[in-house]
Amino acid sequence: MRISRVQLGSLSFLCLASLALANIASSDNITSTFYASSKRGLVFIPNSDFPEDNNVWVQNGSDLTWYYNYKAYPSSNYEKYTSFSFVPMLWGAPSSFNDTTFLDNVTAQITHGSNITYVMGFNEPDGSSDTGGSEVSPDDAAIYWVKQIQPLKKLGVQLGAPAVTGGESGFEWLANFTKACGDDCTFDFIPIHWYGNFDGLQNHLADVANAYPGVHQWVTEFALDDADLNTTQQFFQDAVRFLDKNENVTFYSYFGAFRSFTSNVGINVAMLDSWGNLTDIGSWYLGGNATGVIPSNVTVAPVEPTGTTAPTYTLPPLATKISAGPKTYVSGNLAVLAAIVGVLYTL
Ligand SMILES: *[C@@H]1O[C@H](CO)[C@@H](O)[C@H](O)[C@H]1NC(C)=O
Ligand SMILES: *[C@@H]1O[C@H](CO)[C@@H](O)[C@H](O)[C@H]1NC(C)=O
Ligand SMILES: *[C@@H]1O[C@H](CO)[C@@H](O)[C@H](O)[C@H]1NC(C)=O
Ligand SMILES: *[C@@H]1O[C@H](CO)[C@@H](O)[C@H](O)[C@H]1NC(C)=O
Ligand SMILES: *[C@@H]1O[C@H](CO)[C@@H](O)[C@H](O)[C@H]1NC(C)=O
Ligand SMILES: *[C@@H]1O[C@H](CO)[C@@H](O)[C@H](O)[C@H]1NC(C)=O
Ligand SMILES: *[C@@H]1O[C@H](CO)[C@@H](O)[C@H](O)[C@H]1NC(C)=O
Ligand SMILES: *[C@@H]1O[C@H](CO)[C@@H](O)[C@H](O)[C@H]1NC(C)=O
Ligand SMILES: *[C@@H]1O[C@H](CO)[C@@H](O)[C@H](O)[C@H]1NC(C)=O
Ligand SMILES: *[C@@H]1O[C@H](CO)[C@@H](O)[C@H](O)[C@H]1NC(C)=O
Ligand SMILES: *[C@@H]1O[C@H](CO)[C@@H](O)[C@H](O)[C@H]1NC(C)=O
Repeated sequence: MRISRVQLGSLSFLCLASLALANIASSDNITSTFYASSKRGLVFIPNSDFPEDNNVWVQNGSDLTWYYNYKAYPSSNYEKYTSFSFVPMLWGAPSSFNDTTFLDNVTAQITHGSNITYVMGFNEPDGSSDTGGSEVSPDDAAIYWVKQIQPLKKLGVQLGAPAVTGGESGFEWLANFTKACGDDCTFDFIPIHWYGNFDGLQNHLADVANAYPGVHQWVTEFALDDADLNTTQQFFQDAVRFLDKNENVTFYSYFGAFRSFTSNVGINVAMLDSWGNLTDIGSWYLGGNATGVIPSNVTVAPVEPTGTTAPTYTLPPLATKISAGPKTYVSGNLAVLAAIVGVLYTL
């Protein structure tokens, strides 16, 4: 994963910083004011260097209603926020086919009174590990699913399909998975990842709706990666407005809950600048107005020394970057393929 750094005090940084407050809303269609939505959630990527950032997402006024952290159990930072719903995920392959750690842990949370309404399956099982994929084969995933995920349905939990990448391999993987499962796996909603432009996002969601008609959609990672700030902000506002209006989309979580200089999808995606201030996108996402804070590539060391001069960044290999531009757009054929598979989806 790429960690971005520039020299503190470089000329470009000084120019950006002096312009920061002037640039409230930039290109034609980007509005300074925005609005709140209860569909919004957090992809939580803990960063031990800046623990204060954890509080940003649950500050008073934040519209975020739910989060996931790619794990089975909640993050300790958020355990006291009972209205900030936690969604467990079985990220990748368990230690063995007989392993029931995930199932046991989630079941214990429910038994102890946690409000677990949803769980999600594997993270990018069709993706390679160097882009954050979990590299689980459809056949193995079917066995793990039956062992550890399907039983949660009996406890009233709604099940989210494996969260495949936005590329063609995603559709293929899911079709193979449902075939391997036969009638033994069901899912209630389908998590979707998208990195690319707005047209691509719209087309991709339509393709998923064609392949899995009637299945609720959650867009659990999305961003326009590596674009300039205006384009990135325009994408954000167009995408979020579209997701809010789309009746098939239950929830979404923007991929940007980190400081700009630690981003592996381009600095402009980030909801925090290098110092942890909310950027325009960050503030809009939480239901606020533009802040005028410009994301930058300036490396900032943790305030409290940890014994070393160079901070160690703990963005896990979960921070995925899948190139999924317009050309990975998939249409008709895969819908047919999925229909042939003929698995019955619940809801
Ligand atoms: C950030 O800075 C590093 C060098 O310190 C450079 O390699 C990288 O390309 C920069 N990223 C951006 C998005 O400017
Ligand atoms: C962004 O938009 C503003 C206002 O339209 C413009 O002044 C600025 O040059 C644009 N920046 C880029 C990088 O396109
Ligand atoms: C502005 O945004 C609306 C959606 O809110 C869109 O329909 C329209 O095409 C956009 N206009 C421009 C000039 O991008
Ligand atoms: C949160 O904001 C509301 C409305 O602005 C206010 O009434 C309440 O006191 C605030 N709570 C805290 C803990 O700041
Ligand atoms: C439990 O979580 C669900 C979904 O996150 C939410 O709709 C519901 O209101 C919560 N119930 C309680 C009692 O907090
Ligand atoms: C898994 O469980 C089965 C019986 O349910 C047993 O035969 C097998 O040896 C177990 N495998 C491992 C790796 O523990
Ligand atoms: C779930 O697993 C975590 C990590 O091992 C552990 O801290 C937690 O206590 C477990 N929760 C339950 C309810 O068993
Ligand atoms: C899906 O199954 C087909 C047929 O077995 C195989 O050729 C293909 O590689 C599989 N694709 C994925 C992504 O699992
Ligand atoms: C919602 O999904 C259905 C198929 O399940 C599709 O016909 C419809 O066009 C979708 N709506 C939107 C807004 O994409
Ligand atoms: C950003 O955060 C730093 C450190 O907390 C603070 O000194 C600075 O004033 C903030 N800048 C803006 C534009 O909010
Ligand atoms: C955003 O700006 C509008 C217009 O100035 C204002 O009415 C609204 O209260 C602001 N929203 C927040 C969350 O400050």
